[in-house]
Amino acid sequence: MNDRSYRDEQISRAEIPPQNEYDQLLNHEYDGIREYDNPLPGWWVWLFWITIIYSGFYWMYYHIGDGPTVEDKHEVAMVRHIEAQLARIGELKPDNETIVSYMQNEDWMRAMGGVFRGQCAQCHAADGGGLIGPNLTDGYFQHVREPEDIFRVIRDGAAGGSMPAFEGRMREPQMILIAAYVASLRGTEPASPLPPEGRRVPPWPEPAMQNEVGDE
Ligand code: HEC
Repeated sequence: MNDRSYRDEQISRAEIPPQNEYDQLLNHEYDGIREYDNPLPGWWVWLFWITIIYSGFYWMYYHIGDGPTVEDKHEVAMVRHIEAQLARIGELKPDNETIVSYMQNEDWMRAMGGVFRGQCAQCHAADGGGLIGPNLTDGYFQHVREPEDIFRVIRDGAAGGSMPAFEGRMREPQMILIAAYVASLRGTEPASPLPPEGRRVPPWPEPAMQNEVGDE
């Protein structure tokens, strides 16, 4: 009892007389705490409204409209990166030897995996198992006998354009590197492979480097 009245006294002594029209003590009390009915500072309220209005535009641009997604930005950055790298390696020969040697290059194969998922996966599936286009992993091909034929199919297309020609859409070194990526898919196990089409093709030639190292 005594405690309580002591505290009440403290509170009433703590009451500062109103300094302006806002300083009205509210009519409630929680554990001895009372509060003024003061408005939030103007700058705070403005910031609050600005964030709400901004979120509306943000939502319309990025979620309803066609503002770039994180994936789009990543894609663009990847394409730029690949182009810069391609400019550095210069010309490549579209022959078996070049293609099989790049199959061993993990960095390039990782980069080309990204390109494959961007440009080829809608028809061949992200893992090459086939959708509209055939399975590229099973070693059976309709237009391919050796790795350089993969390059040719990519450049010129096939079946009257149902496999589109990438000439003009991609530079030659990139088509060669994607051919190496496609060659490297052979023997992998896609999630839902289409059945084989065409003829079984002999194994790709071994990369020349290994032969040169040779006679131990
Ligand atoms: C619009 C769909 C589509 C896209 C995109 C596409 N392809 Fe194809 N691709 C096909 C079709 C369909 C065939 C089969 C053509 C035929 O039946 O003769 C094919 C065939 C191929 C073949 C030959 C397969 C064989 O059996 O000889 C290769 C290699 C190939 N595509 C690689 C690629 C690569 C690499 C890309 C991306 C750079 C790509 N394709 C993009 C639809 C597509």
